[in-house]
Amino acid sequence: MPEIKIKDIIKEFWKYAKPYKWFLLIFFVVIIANSIIAVVTPLFYKDLFNTVATNSVASDDVVASLIKIVIIILFLNGGSWLLFRLGGTIDAYTSTRIRAEMDEGVFERLQYHSYKFFTDNFAGSLMRRVKRFSQAYDTLSMVIFWNLLSLVVVITGFLLVLFNRNIWLGAVMFVAMIAIVAANVLFSIWKLKYDEDRAQKDTKASGVLVDSITNNANVKLFSGRIHEQKLFTTVREELAKAELISWLLAEGSFTIQALFMVLVEFSVMYVAIIFWQKGILTVGDFALIQAYLIGLFQRLWNIGRGMRKIYEAFADAKETVEILHQPYGVKDKPIAKRIKVNKGKIDFVKVDFNYNKTRKTLENFNININPGERVALVGPSGAGKSTAVKLLLRFHDVDAGKILIDGQNIADVTQDSLRESIGFVPQDPILFHRSLMENIRYGNRKASDKQVMEAAKLAHCHEFIQGLPEGYKTFVGERGIKLSGGERQRVAIARAILKNAPILILDEATSSLDSESEAMIQDALKTLMKNKTVIVIAHRLSTIMQMDRILVMQDGEVVDQGTHADLLDRRGLYKKLWSIQAGSFT
Ligand SMILES: Nc1ncnc2c1ncn2[C@@H]1O[C@H](COP(=O)(O)OP(=O)(O)OP(=O)(O)O)[C@@H](O)[C@H]1O
Ligand SMILES: [Mg+2]
Repeated sequence: MPEIKIKDIIKEFWKYAKPYKWFLLIFFVVIIANSIIAVVTPLFYKDLFNTVATNSVASDDVVASLIKIVIIILFLNGGSWLLFRLGGTIDAYTSTRIRAEMDEGVFERLQYHSYKFFTDNFAGSLMRRVKRFSQAYDTLSMVIFWNLLSLVVVITGFLLVLFNRNIWLGAVMFVAMIAIVAANVLFSIWKLKYDEDRAQKDTKASGVLVDSITNNANVKLFSGRIHEQKLFTTVREELAKAELISWLLAEGSFTIQALFMVLVEFSVMYVAIIFWQKGILTVGDFALIQAYLIGLFQRLWNIGRGMRKIYEAFADAKETVEILHQPYGVKDKPIAKRIKVNKGKIDFVKVDFNYNKTRKTLENFNININPGERVALVGPSGAGKSTAVKLLLRFHDVDAGKILIDGQNIADVTQDSLRESIGFVPQDPILFHRSLMENIRYGNRKASDKQVMEAAKLAHCHEFIQGLPEGYKTFVGERGIKLSGGERQRVAIARAILKNAPILILDEATSSLDSESEAMIQDALKTLMKNKTVIVIAHRLSTIMQMDRILVMQDGEVVDQGTHADLLDRRGLYKKLWSIQAGSFT
């Protein structure tokens, strides 16, 4: 993947900011106007002081012209006050809109990423990346508009005025400003490594915290409380050390900067006195210079911090843009059409697939399932059974070969239409932290409450849901943690029943159920399987005996197939698996 450059980041920002370009332009003009007022106002103070100094007698005329000046200053300050409020309001509106659209846009683009992408990235880290993009925009727009833009205009204005007044005065001010800005920028660049170190230790401490919290059951189970406390304390203390260094360096830089400013004040005033002695500068000029110095110092004080914020914002945004620019693992072809499933014939033709370069998970994998046929996939753990059905769902693309449904290559149809045609109960179903009603309805979001409950009855989850104090309104906890394994499986089955797709895949769908519940559900499943093509993966051979055909998998290949009776006769792997299970009963 090509390296993400500043240009790419700005392009991404602009994509979302562009609809608000007129607001941003007004904001831009407001800030500039405001900065110009900051340059102009001291000029009137200068007039005010000059008028006072040159008129020892307070005649009515003099007082009138003084009052006139003060009124002009009043209008300038009033204008500035209005502009500030206007700028603040525009900023509030555009920033909240742009940030919302960024979050929504990034979320939308994230969803197109493949199943693999989500298994490769931690949920917490993805969430941070989504949020940090808009936060980075916020920081950048704040620092650039409010601080840098205003600083540039004000410095230019001050210098123009001072050079105009006296070239030496301008020159001293110019050199002083260059020195302060350069020192600040150089220092913040030098300090970056300490800031990065602090950020890294912060991430590490958060990592330990999150890992420990999610593993709280393990911590309890293995009495690891003190161990965890030590782990966290170690990383937190490291963070504290890094924070202290970073903070003290900032303090150091402020100390030096303050000293710098005292020297600048002295030099400028020294030069001013000399020119006053020569009759070039007036009392008013002193007022002007002093006002400029104060305005300048105020704006320069945080320039170092501003630079660092800009750098951090770009670093954060880069992480997000990286995932935005990462090509989608599984893509719809531009000409992809909706799949048409009539009969539900499934063919895997010479399929090769591996998760990573080193080892083949499926090799030359061939199966043909007839319309309406019910087949079972059996085989040792790790044989590739779940992988095969994930390929059929196109969670991953095959490396070689093809998978056909009713003669249509699944790589040529839209992913949405493909997955709409398949009901899937996964090995380890995960639920949303939403109500049970919403979780089941996910199978068919148009279903009525009544239809949801009917499906729940068939899947035998209605009973336990009724027993919950909040019934179908019960929230199930993160990933469905508040339900037992068997309950979660039954909810997943209800969801598949509601979906009622022409192809049905059950991956160990009843493995967590006791024999009695399983027997009850088998009835429901039998009804569900009617007129569908069905793939059932199961270890419990009692559940697969009734299938039309059994495919035996080993090391990513189909090694045998036939009916239960055929396979027993052949005394192969199936016979061995069966004997072990049967043996444990006798
Ligand atoms: N996301 C993944 N990334 C890398 N390797 C994986 C991934 N998922 C599965 N594997 C590996 O692929 C192989 C096949 O896994 P698969 O889940 O298909 O086995 P299975 O036949 O369903 O086993 P079980 O009966 O235990 O569910 C295993 O060796 C497994 O470690
Ligand atoms: Mg599996």
